[in-house]
Amino acid sequence: MRFLRPALLLTAFLAGSAVSLTAQDPNAVAIEALQRLKGNDLESNPALKGAVNKVLNQITNQSAFVELVRDFDLKERAPEVLDFVRRHPGDALCLDGLQFVLKYDSASVTRALEHDEDAPNLLVLLGKTGRAEAVPSILAVVKDGKRSAASREAAVRALASTQEGAKQLLVLVGEKGLPEALAILAVHELQAVRWPVIREQALKMGASPVTAPPILPPKGELLKIPGDPERGARIFRKPEVGCMACHQVNGEGVDFGPRLSEIGAKLGKDAIYDSIVDPSAGISFGFESWLFTLKDGDETLGLISSETENEVVVRLQGGQTTRLAKKDLLKREKQAQSIMPTGLQDNLGAQGFADLLEYLSTLKKATR
Ligand code: HEC
Repeated sequence: MRFLRPALLLTAFLAGSAVSLTAQDPNAVAIEALQRLKGNDLESNPALKGAVNKVLNQITNQSAFVELVRDFDLKERAPEVLDFVRRHPGDALCLDGLQFVLKYDSASVTRALEHDEDAPNLLVLLGKTGRAEAVPSILAVVKDGKRSAASREAAVRALASTQEGAKQLLVLVGEKGLPEALAILAVHELQAVRWPVIREQALKMGASPVTAPPILPPKGELLKIPGDPERGARIFRKPEVGCMACHQVNGEGVDFGPRLSEIGAKLGKDAIYDSIVDPSAGISFGFESWLFTLKDGDETLGLISSETENEVVVRLQGGQTTRLAKKDLLKREKQAQSIMPTGLQDNLGAQGFADLLEYLSTLKKATR
C-alpha cells in the first residue's frame, strides 16, 4: 500500500473502491491516507478539506479522530473533540484532545464541567494538562456548595496540580473559604506540590492532617522479616498503595514507570528495598523526569516518550501522553528527583512492607 499516493488513496476510499483493501476496518485506509496528508493547508484546498471532513465524520468514536483534528488544526471541530474526551476519559489521546479544546474553546470546557457526573474525570484530565486557562473553571467547581463531594474533591486535586491553581487554592484555604473536609484535602495536596514556596506556606498551615505513619524498623531488620508473596501481591494491587498506577506486572497496571514483571531477576531484595525507599538514588535509564516550561508559563512534568525535530512527546503520570511543540517551549530541566514518590512504604507496616518485597523478589520471568 506504501506506493499509493495518500491523496489517491483518499479519493479511492471516497469513491468506495478502497474498502476491499482492508476487510476489518474500511476506515483504516482513509485514516492512514489522512495521516500522510498532514501538513497540507486545508484552508487553501476546499476540496481536500471536504474530503477530510467526510472521513472524520465516520470516525468520531476513534482516537484517530482527535489526532487528525489536532494535526489539521480544525478549530471548528473542538466541541466534538470535547465530546470524545468525555466519552473516553481513559483514551491515550484525551489529554492532547483537551489541550486542543482549551486552546480554541475553553468556554465549552466550563460548560461541560456543569454536568456533575462527568466532572470528576474531566477535572483529573484538566489538572494534568497543567494549563492556567483551565484554572478559573476548576476554581468555580471547588467553590460551588451545590456540587457533589466527588466533583469538588477532584477539583481540589486538579488545582493542586498546576502552579497557578495551587496558588489560588492556597488563597482560598487562607480565607477559610472551604468546608472543613475540603480544606483538609487541600492542605494535604498543597503540602506535596513541587513548588517550594507554595509547599512551605501549606506546611505552615498547621500540622499535617495526615496522621503520622508508624515508624518502620531499620533496613537490616526489615529485610530479615519473612514475607508472604501472596499478601504482597495484594498490597501491590491496592489502589491506596498506588504501585499499579505507575507500574505493570505481566500486562496488568499502568504503563508509566519500568515494568516490574522481571524485577526479582534484575534486583535483589536489598536493591528493591532501596528503589522503593529512595527512588531518586538510582533512577532507571530512560525514566528520568523532565520539567518543561512553556513560553506561556505553563509547565508539564513527565518522562520523555519520544522526540522529533519539532515536538517532544511526554508521558505523564497515569500513562497518557501529551505532545509539546518545540516552538512553544521556553526550557526543559532534568529533575534530580524521581517521579516515583517517596514514603510509599510508610503506611504498609513492617510486615506489609516485608510481604511486598517478598512478592517483588518472586517476579523473575514475565508470563505475558
Ligand atoms: C507516580 C508513579 C510511581 C508510583 C506510584 C510508583 N512508582 Fe515505582 N517507579 C516509578 C518510576 C518513574 C520509576 C523509574 C525511575 C526511578 O528509578 O526512580 C520507578 C522505579 C521503581 C523500581 C525500580 C525499577 C527498576 O527497574 O530499577 C521499583 C522496584 C519500583 N519503582 C517499585 C514500586 C512500588 C513497589 C510501588 C508501590 C509501593 C511504586 N513503585 C510506585 C514510578 C512510580
